[in-house]
Amino acid sequence: CGIVGYTGQKQAYPILIDGLKKLEYRGYDSAGVALHSGDDVLVYKKQGKVAALETFAAAQPLTATTGIGHTRWATHGEPSDRNAHPHYSSSKHIALIHNGIIENYGQLKNELLNKGYTFNSDTDSEVLLNFIEDIKINNVCSLEEAVRIALKRVTGAYVILLIDKDLPDTIIAARKGSPLVIGVGKNEHFLGSDASPMLAYTKEVVYINDYELAIVRPDELILKNLGNERITPFVQKLDMELAAIEKGNFDHFMLKEIHEQPQTIQDSLRGRLNAEQGTITLSGLEKIQDKLREANRIVIVACGTSWHAGLIGEYLIEELCRLNVEVEYASEYRYRNPIVSPKDVILAISQSGETADTLVALENAKKQGATIFGIVNVVGSSIARLADAGAYTHAGPEIGVASTKAFTAQLAVLQLIALKLAEIRGTISNELFQTLLRELDDVPAKVEWVLKNQVENIKAIARGYKDAANFLYLGRGYNFPIALEGALKLKEITYIHAEGYPAAEMKHGPIALVDESLPVVFVATKDVYHEKIVSNIQEINARKGKVVAVVSEGDDAINDMAEAVMVVPACHEIVAPLVAVIPLQLLAYYIGVERGLDVDKPRNLAKSVTVE
Ligand code: G6P
Repeated sequence: CGIVGYTGQKQAYPILIDGLKKLEYRGYDSAGVALHSGDDVLVYKKQGKVAALETFAAAQPLTATTGIGHTRWATHGEPSDRNAHPHYSSSKHIALIHNGIIENYGQLKNELLNKGYTFNSDTDSEVLLNFIEDIKINNVCSLEEAVRIALKRVTGAYVILLIDKDLPDTIIAARKGSPLVIGVGKNEHFLGSDASPMLAYTKEVVYINDYELAIVRPDELILKNLGNERITPFVQKLDMELAAIEKGNFDHFMLKEIHEQPQTIQDSLRGRLNAEQGTITLSGLEKIQDKLREANRIVIVACGTSWHAGLIGEYLIEELCRLNVEVEYASEYRYRNPIVSPKDVILAISQSGETADTLVALENAKKQGATIFGIVNVVGSSIARLADAGAYTHAGPEIGVASTKAFTAQLAVLQLIALKLAEIRGTISNELFQTLLRELDDVPAKVEWVLKNQVENIKAIARGYKDAANFLYLGRGYNFPIALEGALKLKEITYIHAEGYPAAEMKHGPIALVDESLPVVFVATKDVYHEKIVSNIQEINARKGKVVAVVSEGDDAINDMAEAVMVVPACHEIVAPLVAVIPLQLLAYYIGVERGLDVDKPRNLAKSVTVE
């Protein structure tokens, strides 16, 4: 979910709506605002995207200068008007928005039901709000005090914002486990799940930590811990431009972000890779050099697209550094009682730096003595702050829900890590090291070539296959995770079922699906497996499947065997995934557009999943 807040001299509503639109990537099942208007707290909310809320609220009084807003990704309770946030307390004195999950809400709800409370929604959030109000009434205390007492009883993750009839110009906020940023302006404050809603107004921000509570007024930001002790807010300067979070001339953020990749990959390499001098500098990695020298193994922990980057990281580090690597889904790793030792180094990969499963998996491993290295895109995010060391991916804000440029930036950083670690461990010849440095240096230009020369071809392919019911994606070696990622992109954006598989493993199952209606996308750039993948293509052709292939420039053999090809420049197999994924991103995008779908906001998904 995305949350925003404003208190100051301006009208709050337009600022809240604008902020919600910037945060819509975090969820868009429903949206709502609560405004402190005169002596009243007004709540407007609607199922659907922020635009639906805007239409609904247009006829309502909107002059308030203090308010909070929410865009929801449903957890407890279906997407509907009544489950939308903000929620009113029983007395309608207080309104609350919440991002996260209150795990013991069942127990709290029973206590409240026994006291005669009734509920207007199915959400855990409304339970928390009434629990707070109940404490406020019974203890005859301030809202701030009631929140503090309530949060000591609550288990789970949350960021909450509240406004109260009796507290004009005031927003009370608290966090544990879900992100919260407060922007500091002149006689005004902004609140957000990330900094994007406030970027147009201020660059001075305070990142709120777990177990902190903020009392926010136009001219005052009071920060306290749950023990009611004051904390001095640490104001940081944002290094982000507004243009970075706007679409520019592109139809969608996803398309813009795909096209940014020559630049963003370059940004990930800048200051780190020097191909001319033949050196890599990665200060984060050097910081934990000793740990890495003694490490038994590396464990990569991630979710979604970041997990796919992790798989490529495994192949790279095992091959170049001769070090054992395991790749874990964070959601499994956190619950299955894994063996963690102080000799483990954990690479945490996360675009947002806020994914709840990844964050908790890391907290657990850290408690058991493991060293955490973050590969994170969002500067100052929770995972970045938890890590012992790290390397930011520097892809800039990614707004499209399906990850593209953040993925290639993760790959670029993993390449640097594997090469640097191989150098530290003495497991790579100087010749190969130098070759790979040059290859990596050439990647942005090769990605640029694909974007210049293949878009029209891929659009045509998309038109040809847009009505398929299923897709199979196959690859071997470094291109196997690219097949997984290609299939995931297609699923996310087009709602066509797609499966990614190792090309050779295909004959142990998915081959049963092959007939003349099944497009099979091969990631078949020239590498050591080339002959083998050519055989796999023959196996599909023999069963009348429709072969679409990503091939290296000049690979006539596959050209003759496939119904359609998407061409990429030849490159060393180790850097090939960075280039080979680009046509697959474009293919998913254009099929989504052909099918008339909202590719930036695919149904049911959210970009930053801050619940488990
Ligand atoms: C969500 C997003 C994916 C992303 C995954 C992990 O599912 O929709 O695009 O790969 O979370 O997110 P993270 O921010 O940790 O990389």
